[in-house]
Amino acid sequence: MTIGTQLLRRGVARGGSLALVFALCLGVTAPLLAATSQKAEARIDKRAFGKLQDGTAVDIYTLRNSRGLEVEITNYGGVVVSLRTPDRRGRMVDIVLGYDDLSGYEADTSYFGAVVGRYANRIAGASFKLNGVEYQLAKNNGPNHLHGGLRGFNKVVWQAREIPRKDAVALELTYLSKDTEEGYPGNLTVTVTYVLSNANELRIEYAATTDKETVVNLTHHSYFNLVGAGTGDVLSHQAKINADRFTPVDETLIPTGELKAVKGTPFDFSRATAIGSRINQPDEQLVLGKGYDHNFVLNKMAQELSLAASVYEPVSGRALEMWTTEPGMQLYTGNFLDNVRGKADKVYVRRGGFCLEAEHFPDSPNKPSFPSTVLKPGERYTQTTVYKFMVRGAKEKP
Ligand code: GLA
Repeated sequence: MTIGTQLLRRGVARGGSLALVFALCLGVTAPLLAATSQKAEARIDKRAFGKLQDGTAVDIYTLRNSRGLEVEITNYGGVVVSLRTPDRRGRMVDIVLGYDDLSGYEADTSYFGAVVGRYANRIAGASFKLNGVEYQLAKNNGPNHLHGGLRGFNKVVWQAREIPRKDAVALELTYLSKDTEEGYPGNLTVTVTYVLSNANELRIEYAATTDKETVVNLTHHSYFNLVGAGTGDVLSHQAKINADRFTPVDETLIPTGELKAVKGTPFDFSRATAIGSRINQPDEQLVLGKGYDHNFVLNKMAQELSLAASVYEPVSGRALEMWTTEPGMQLYTGNFLDNVRGKADKVYVRRGGFCLEAEHFPDSPNKPSFPSTVLKPGERYTQTTVYKFMVRGAKEKP
């Protein structure tokens, strides 16, 4: 933070117009002013993020919208590195978990902020059959395959370019996942476009095509903490999820195949409920997940972009909504986070962030009753997921 920005923040906090004028004279611009005056210009800046251990250079892009929202994205893993949004008093804070530098992401095992694929979530026994051929994948999660394997889409370098969009800035990332990579069949060309709109939405548009029948399930893995990354757990955040059913799991977190009603269970978020209010109940599913680590069956028409979930944090007033075309959403409450050292030396405690992962149901390749994740040559996989950021007044409910 520049000295000018500090002064400006103090000035605004005290309502001191003299300090504000002084700060303006110092040439203070961008985020804070934008958050209040809505006059900043939307733009993207690119800079070097560092080099991977193998010497590959990686960049980081800062996307800013006209209202001062700021997102940093690296082309390593398509990771959202930071996301700064205002609270109800206009104070900008980084609300996603992550690391200060590239080496943190290279070593990461939590999938902070990443694009996840070729198959997000789990595939039972790390194998599946397509047209009678059995494909073997890495067992990187007990007996199962998780999040694309040993080197999933979160650990590869994507080609990046800025693309023009109306009332928004956009960064397009492209990656060619070669035939047999991580055991999957088919050369898969994937594009993920991050669009930061002037309406405070981070829209993620995915597309993929293949030259051989394969399975695809992509998601985004940001961990949010609406008070600010590294400020404690998210148990008092209030979540509302538009799902009447969820997919119960076995002891290795593979869905049993049942679509179970949430009614009368701790999985009922049809009304806004604190994430932590039931998380430690002796419910079999919560015990298996060590908290919430479950896929919700979203109430919707197939392929419709609809509201999946909203989360509100009463102290800061920050809220977010997640909209998606996907049939499912994994709610993961950071149950495996174990005092991870993150950005600015902050420590991410257990349940210090929540993920809303828009996706197809886990283990769909082995569950014929679930919506299909098969992609054939000539077809186009698409997904749109939107995270919308807002603030709410003290008395409002989500
Ligand atoms: C997903 C999984 C969790 C965990 C995290 C990453 O959300 O469902 O079980 O593996 O990713 O730590």
